[in-house]
Amino acid sequence: MVPESRTRTMSDARRRVALQIAFALLSAGLLSAQEQQSFPEGQGKDTFLRICSVCHGPQIVLGRGNTVDGWTQVVLNMVQRGAQGSEEEFGEIVQYLAKNFPPKAEGSVTTVNVNKASAEEIKTALDIALKDAQSIVAYRQQNGPFKTVEQVEKVPGVDAAKIESKKDRITF
Ligand code: HEC
Repeated sequence: MVPESRTRTMSDARRRVALQIAFALLSAGLLSAQEQQSFPEGQGKDTFLRICSVCHGPQIVLGRGNTVDGWTQVVLNMVQRGAQGSEEEFGEIVQYLAKNFPPKAEGSVTTVNVNKASAEEIKTALDIALKDAQSIVAYRQQNGPFKTVEQVEKVPGVDAAKIESKKDRITF
């Protein structure tokens, strides 16, 4: 008879092996094509993917923005946590990150075409309530395409001040 604890140990062991394999694949930089594609091409990309994928997915940097100084702090922090690489490699990583993940304000602004986008897209790009974005979509369906920001601001129910503050992001 196999004691219950033994079966449990075996499945734990199997899970551990699976984890180790996943870990080894990640460390070897064999990320799925989709994962690699979310990173812009450029000098330092391979070094970044190789060194920064050992402990967590490289996706951890997505959606963050930093200056060279900011990324240097992050990388130094990772070195303290045990990231392995040469000074040159870390320098390359900082340059790659600073170039491709700059501070939000200086990064390219996301724009949205208010005549084509879904309510969900408008909500995200303009940082407004979904309800307001839905009003914009409903309005254009009834009245035809918008031509000016003022027209968008006059849609009943939307927060005109908010639209005004994000007008750089609106395209027609
Ligand atoms: C030795 C393991 C290890 C390596 C290699 C590593 N990290 Fe980390 N990283 C961590 C740990 C641990 C955390 C903390 C996770 C948490 O807070 O849940 C972390 C968190 C982060 C965070 C989010 C937290 C923060 O400080 O803002 C970023 C961004 C990050 N790492 C970037 C990098 C980059 C870039 C590299 C490549 C230079 C890298 N990591 C390599 C261990 C590592």
